[in-house]
Amino acid sequence: MDELRIALVGIAGYGEQYLKRLLQPEEALNGRLVAGIDAYPERSSLLAELRGADIAVHHSLEAFQAVDQADLVIIAAPIHLHAPLTCQALARGSHVLCEKPLGATVEDGQRIIQAERAAGRIVAIGYQWSFSEALGQLKADILAGTLGRPLGMKTLVLWPRRQSYYSRNAWAGRLRTSDGHWVLDSPLNNAAAHYLHNMLWLLGDTIQASARPSSVEAELWRANAIENFDSAAVRIRTESGVCLRMYTSHAVRDNADPRFELACEHAVVAIDADNMVTARFSDGRTKVYGNPNARYFGKLYQTIAAVRSGGTVPCGPVAAFAQTLCIQRIQDCPVGDVPRDRIRIDATGGDPLVWVDGLAEALTRRYLSADF
Ligand SMILES: NC(=O)c1ccc[n+]([C@@H]2O[C@H](COP(=O)([O-])OP(=O)(O)OC[C@H]3O[C@@H](n4cnc5c(N)ncnc54)[C@H](O)[C@@H]3O)[C@@H](O)[C@H]2O)c1
Repeated sequence: MDELRIALVGIAGYGEQYLKRLLQPEEALNGRLVAGIDAYPERSSLLAELRGADIAVHHSLEAFQAVDQADLVIIAAPIHLHAPLTCQALARGSHVLCEKPLGATVEDGQRIIQAERAAGRIVAIGYQWSFSEALGQLKADILAGTLGRPLGMKTLVLWPRRQSYYSRNAWAGRLRTSDGHWVLDSPLNNAAAHYLHNMLWLLGDTIQASARPSSVEAELWRANAIENFDSAAVRIRTESGVCLRMYTSHAVRDNADPRFELACEHAVVAIDADNMVTARFSDGRTKVYGNPNARYFGKLYQTIAAVRSGGTVPCGPVAAFAQTLCIQRIQDCPVGDVPRDRIRIDATGGDPLVWVDGLAEALTRRYLSADF
């Protein structure tokens, strides 16, 4: 293949992380950015740099496609646009790297899976942990039976989010956009979606597959003034009978980075405070898999390599679909408003944080005591 031509949709917000790497790659990119596409390009702090590098800027994927083409379209646009933009890129023969989650709804996910099959192109979904060497090796060991049968897995993510998070765009914390498209934005479908997906992906039958839910129960709470929930406790049983538990909240005062524990017949695998993933076997042996946050943008370089070689990626639409199936069932559960007397507001720095007294402790206690 000649030089791989790349277009990026979404050059502000999280898209800036891609733009940074596309303009100044940390390792050989083996491709070239040919266009930055954004409905509001002026929102990007890197717009001048983009123009300075003589890279075209367009206001829509359609406008770009009218005059040019890309081998790879990267999509870092809002959740409700993942399906339409992915299908639009595939229809013109481009490969796609789309940000997580797969889409807002099960129908979005099905559309992407069908379009990917029809186009015969690669679609990668940007759950970076699934592209990490550490978790790839752990999954290979689970599939090889080295750890014994998986018995259960639990995850805790406490990530405070201030008002600026909910006001940064028109869809944060919302069920639908103002023009009626489902977005279903929540910790489980956005910031902490990675870790819900991670449990399902690790337990998939192949590297490219995820375990599917057979039952889903969720307790959902709202402390912020938003449509959807900001805190959740979820129990999922997979089709093969493994119990998964997830505890997460944005309405907490202090940050606690993701913790997980996977219990298997012969070992327990956990991530420690330094983000190292280690298996501890019942016979006393340990195996260190490493840090899943290392090579954070491996998803970009691996997708480019797969496009160039005709290979595969570890996380495509079929793998990402399991999280979307869980979200559909989670959203069927009622959302409870946190009692006002439990809500606290930290107004430091003029950007208020709504947090719930005792919630972090309660979720942590439940995480620690959860068994399978
Ligand atoms: N992988 C990660 O760790 C990670 C982290 C943060 C966000 N994300 C994902 O990145 C995506 C974007 O999130 P965000 O928080 O930056 O959202 P955002 O709404 O703040 O920014 C999205 C960008 O898309 C642009 N946009 C909107 N409509 C468009 C259209 N029709 N065509 C082209 N551009 C359009 C906006 O102008 C904006 O620049 C989401 O899918 C989110 O889940 C992933």
